[in-house]
Amino acid sequence: MPLDRLDTNSYVIFVIVSHIRGQIGGPVAGAGPDARSEGSPVGGTWGMGSGSPASLVLEASGVSKAYGPLEALKAIDLTISRGEIVGLLGPNGAGKSTLISIVAGLLRPDVGTVTVNGIDPARDPVKAQRFVGFAPQSTGVYEPLTVEENLVFFGQLAGLRRRRLAERITDVCEALLLETLRPRKCEELSGGEKRRVHTAIALMARPQLLLLDEPTVGADIETRGALIDLVKLLADEGTAILYSTHYLPEVEALDASVVLLHAGRVIARGSVDDLIARHGVGMLELRFAGPAPTLDSTDLSVEYDGNALRLRTSAPAVAAAQVMNELGDHVDRLESLDVLRPSLDSVFLSLTGHRLRAPESEPDGAS
Ligand SMILES: Nc1ncnc2c1ncn2[C@@H]1O[C@H](COP(=O)(O)OP(=O)(O)OP(=O)(O)O)[C@@H](O)[C@H]1O
Ligand SMILES: [Mg+2]
Repeated sequence: MPLDRLDTNSYVIFVIVSHIRGQIGGPVAGAGPDARSEGSPVGGTWGMGSGSPASLVLEASGVSKAYGPLEALKAIDLTISRGEIVGLLGPNGAGKSTLISIVAGLLRPDVGTVTVNGIDPARDPVKAQRFVGFAPQSTGVYEPLTVEENLVFFGQLAGLRRRRLAERITDVCEALLLETLRPRKCEELSGGEKRRVHTAIALMARPQLLLLDEPTVGADIETRGALIDLVKLLADEGTAILYSTHYLPEVEALDASVVLLHAGRVIARGSVDDLIARHGVGMLELRFAGPAPTLDSTDLSVEYDGNALRLRTSAPAVAAAQVMNELGDHVDRLESLDVLRPSLDSVFLSLTGHRLRAPESEPDGAS
């Protein structure tokens, strides 16, 4: 079974067995002794200029991966420096989890190289994963154990003992609003609560590279806020973070540098402001019950996308009035009219012709 498709219990067992065998370091908790506090190949050089070779934590170059005939990743280049947050955005199937699994050392690229602090995770997973904390998309907690027991267990696997273990548990519980849940069995928790525990596990070892694959799926607003604050704090302390999400406001709140992934390719990279300045456009979007009608007489540029039509415009109010006049009888089928200000959503739309919207609603803890 592919590693990234294991069910929760199998996944946890995989992690445990891998640790015991020493084949895979710490796909969940980060691993080995606390790499930052106990010294590492890059210890003591935090805060160097971003992007300088010595400050790079992750370097991926020309990474491609196919599943049979399906090319999931095509020649991806990606670097992340200390203290940098990279928001990985892309629709379902874009290749986000595949890329993250390769960086975590769970999958090998077909072509290309990946290094974490100079170490190839596919060749030397134990060493590379000493630096990595990984919260995969599928929630992996040990269900029969309490929250506290999970954190102790994975903390110990990550090499933490006694006082440091206890302190770290207190820290992650405080940061992810888990204090009152510590004595509760994970099998009793809601999906969103389990996901918080799952993320806490990835943070136990204070990794130098933190991989969070859709960490806020099913989380409520308070939890999202707490996680965003924590991720920013960790970045301020020097952690390099790769954070995949469908929620654009999170990327904006994180002040992340953005990588837009589409059908296995990086289609744009830059700060939110850069991308919006380069590619963002104002639009008016109309959605209909059934296929969007054709507008013949408007002089505005119109794009048709199934039941939606969009007009590029810098004056949406004027365009709205004009287009309503032109709709004639079709106005009865109009379901919504949205003004899209230049934003990451409109950047994605102008580059791909499709909107990148967060799911309207997600089941609690969906994974
Ligand atoms: N183990 C696998 N075997 C076959 N195909 C796979 C496997 N894992 C992923 N894929 C395919 O590879 C492509 C990329 O999948 P991936 O899970 O990386 O996308 P994603 O961007 O994480 O999507 P989502 O937003 O839905 O999580 C998809 O078309 C998916 O169906
Ligand atoms: Mg995914």
